[in-house]
Formats: sequence, C-alpha cells, structure tokens
Amino acid sequence: IYVYNETQMNQGTLIEIKKGQNLLEGLRQAGIAQATYCGGVGLCGKCKICLLDGKLEISMEDRKFFSSAELKKGYRLACKAVPVDECKVLLLQEQEQEFSIISHYEKKSEKNEFEYDNEYVIGIDIGTTTLVFQLVGKNTKKVLHTHTAMNHQRDFGADVISRIKASNEGKKEQLCKIIRSDLRKGIQELLSNKEFKKENVKSIAVGANTTMVHLLMNYSCESLGEYPFTPVNISTIRTDCRALLGMEDIKAEIIILPGISTFIGGDIISGLYKYNFYKMDETSVFIDLGTNGEIVVGNKNRILCTSTAAGPAFEGGYISCGVGSIQGAICNVDITKEGLDIRTIGNKPAVGICGTGVVEIVSELVRAGLVDETGLLESTYFKEGYPLGSDRQRRKLNFTQKDIRELQLAKAAVRAGIEILLKRFGVTYEQIDKIYLAGGFGYKIDIKKAILIGLLPAEFCGRIQAVGNSSLAGAVEYLFDEEAGLKIDKMIDVAEEISLSKDDDFNEYYMQYMMFETCCRKVKENTD
Ligand code: FES
Repeated sequence: IYVYNETQMNQGTLIEIKKGQNLLEGLRQAGIAQATYCGGVGLCGKCKICLLDGKLEISMEDRKFFSSAELKKGYRLACKAVPVDECKVLLLQEQEQEFSIISHYEKKSEKNEFEYDNEYVIGIDIGTTTLVFQLVGKNTKKVLHTHTAMNHQRDFGADVISRIKASNEGKKEQLCKIIRSDLRKGIQELLSNKEFKKENVKSIAVGANTTMVHLLMNYSCESLGEYPFTPVNISTIRTDCRALLGMEDIKAEIIILPGISTFIGGDIISGLYKYNFYKMDETSVFIDLGTNGEIVVGNKNRILCTSTAAGPAFEGGYISCGVGSIQGAICNVDITKEGLDIRTIGNKPAVGICGTGVVEIVSELVRAGLVDETGLLESTYFKEGYPLGSDRQRRKLNFTQKDIRELQLAKAAVRAGIEILLKRFGVTYEQIDKIYLAGGFGYKIDIKKAILIGLLPAEFCGRIQAVGNSSLAGAVEYLFDEEAGLKIDKMIDVAEEISLSKDDDFNEYYMQYMMFETCCRKVKENTD
C-alpha cells in the first residue's frame, strides 16, 4: 500500500499489510500513528482515508459515515478497509504535533555562574490523550521547559475502557512498551538543550490515572475491567529512571502518585493536593473533565468522589467533525447578528472542532434559540447540521443533531454526578467555597458557556476557577514538599468513593440535566 498525506502528495510511503489485516493495523505497525476514539471498531469515524488508486470494498460502517458521493470519491474507514491488492491511499486525519516551550531561559552570563539552577526536578502528567512534561529548577522553582506530546497508546482507542480491553486482549506488553518509549522521548526532549545536564535531574513525579499506571507498570488490567474493579496496586510507587525506563544516564528517582481507586487515580489526588484539600476547613468542589469526568466534594475532614463515563465529547471525540486540541481546531464560537464568529487554535485554517469548541457551539445554539430545551436543532439545520464553514480540503464542517446529543449525554452525566455528591455530602450550592475546573477540553473554556449548557450549576457563578492541568501542577509541587506524601495519605484516609450507577437518584438527575431549559432560566436569574 502506498500511503500519502496532504503535505507529501508526490511521495508516498510504502507499507506492507498482511493478508486479511485492515489498513489501520497496517498503519500502526508501520509506525504511522492514527488517533482513534473507538479503538478500531468502526464507531468513531476518525480513521478516514481516501482511496486514490486500487480497490477497497465498501463496508457497512462506511455507509454510515459517508454519503454515496463520498463513497464514490473513495472515502473509507481505515479500520474497516481490508486491502486485497496494491493500492494508494490518502490519510485524511490531521496529524497532531508535539510542542515544546522553553521558558525563563536565558544564556548564562559570564559574571554570575549561579544565576541559574544547576539541579532540576521533572513533573509528568500521563493523560489518556496527552503527555505533559515539565522541567523545573530545584532551587528557583522556575519552570524551565514544558513539553507536550501525544500518548501513542491512542492507536488503541481514546478512553481507558478501550485501553483496558486492548491490554486484556493480548496487547499488554505492547501498550507498556509504547508508554515507556513515550516517556523516554519526552524526558529526552525536555533535556534536549545542552544547558540542562541529565545527571542534574534529581527526582521525577508522575500524576496519572489508575489505568495509565497499570499500563506503565505492566500490571494486568483484567481486574480493572470487571466488577468489583479492584486495582493491582494504587499505592505510591518509587522506582528510578534506569529500572523503569532503561535510562542509564539519568539517576533520578521516579515517584508515581497514589490513587484512591480504579476510577479516582493519582492524577486527581495530585490536583486535590495542589488545591489544598488536605487542609481546607471550607468545602470545595473539584471537577476534572477529560475522557472521563471525575468529581470531588470535600474538605480536610471528609472527601466524597465519583467518576462518570462522560465519553470523549469534551475532547472532541465522537463528534462528527471533532478533533483533539490541534492547530486549527475551532475553540471559540460566537453567533452574532452579523453571522458566525469562529476562532481556531493558533489562528490556523479550521480543521475541525475541539472539546472547548463543542461546549461553545452548543451554548451559542441554545442562546440563539436554534436548539430547543430538549436539544432539538431547528428544522433548517436538522438534516445537515449547523454549518461551521469548511476545512482546508473544502470538506464541510457541520455540527449535527447527533453531536448535540453526544454533548447532552456527557454534560448530563457530569452534572448528575455533581448534584449527587453535593446531596450525599449534605451541602447546598451556597455552602461551597470554591469550584476548581481542571482538565483537558483542549483549550480554556468560557465558564459562562459551560454554565449555560447546564454542565455546571448557575449558582456557582463567580466562584469557579479554571485550573488547567492540575495533575502536572500537583506532581511538580510534590517534589518541593517533604510532607507531600503525608498530606496525600491524609486525603486518601478520609476519601470515600460513590458509585453513580448504584445511586437511586442518578437516573432522575441524568434525565433532568439532559435538558437545556432549566439551565437557561437559571443563568438568566443569576446574571440578573
Ligand atoms: Fe475507525 Fe473508529 S471508526 S477507528
């Protein structure tokens, strides 16, 4: 198979595919990363390709995702395309780029040799989608370098469930190898500037969800996938770069933060630690929205937490023109009298819509009265979806009725989780001191818009703080605090997990918050 992409149309890469293997598997084996949300089962439509030459049968799933005109042009899903002969295909997926920011770094002056740190620590957040690495001066606490990279396990699906499934279907070693290799590359990239000496890295702390820790440590994921969802190990893990990653030249210790359960992992504990849940008298709320939504209500004496399978809508997943937080992703949307006002990440030509954009467009459609309280799109747009313009390949970007439903399911699950935790904790909205909104929409969210769609209670207005990647921030902080371990243990001791699926009120709340009407009225009252 000759594989082309938009930027290299005159030079294809030749890959070989075994008989009976699908194109997606072939691309993976050839090291051509393709982010998939469904893990290759024909559900997400993210693995689109276009056949330039040769033959690929049309699958049942192709018919769901492509119009007959598109099928004629050669559009297919790579995960369902099984080549029988030589062919040429064009990859349609936008490639995500790794990026690095070197900050606070200036050339050492001759006069003052001690101007800069000569010892470092590293914080790492292993997200299901993205990995973030941060190099920090041990003496100055200055952030010297931040590097963001893709978690290449994404080839096996967007969420933890598909990773657990893949691990349990014989891919355990492969997934472990991938994440260890990603960590090695990230650390090397972080230290790529020769001013940063490898031998001067003193310690590394990692915040990650329980599944990511299991895959990194090569633990079996079997018990994570079935009731009672018992993890192999969620205690603090202490190892080092040589033992875990085979990096002989870095002597640093690696500390992997502990978790509370299979569903509330070290990434959440890291955020709670960062925002002082171990010492607060007042009760606060912490919400982390990624492919899962984790919610915590608590103070120093008591912590209640839960996790909702919100689905990847907040990261652009299962949305027809959804993409991750890549350059060109639509992240801000305003519907004005003059028309549609759209901004993209990096102000690049639009390539699709990221999680923040999804919240924004739905909120704007609701505000403009183009979506009713049940989530139904106005009849003019019902069939084709609301037009957001077109992408570089002049394909239409439409936000469809199905996309609105995806968002409704996700926001209703999170909101129901918030309501249940508040109720079980016995607090009213007014008794909540602060609300920390963490995590990976892909881009900073407009809190008013999140309230307008009912993701967050309108009564929280003015107390919500968007805190970004709190898992990374907590991991870095851990390395500067000798008592961090004790503080974290204290939180774990008072933490209790609530299972939403067993909660009597869940269904009622879930149905209630699927609607938009209540939210709009409340926002109006609170803004007035
Ligand atoms: Fe092919 Fe999801 S549809 S990877």
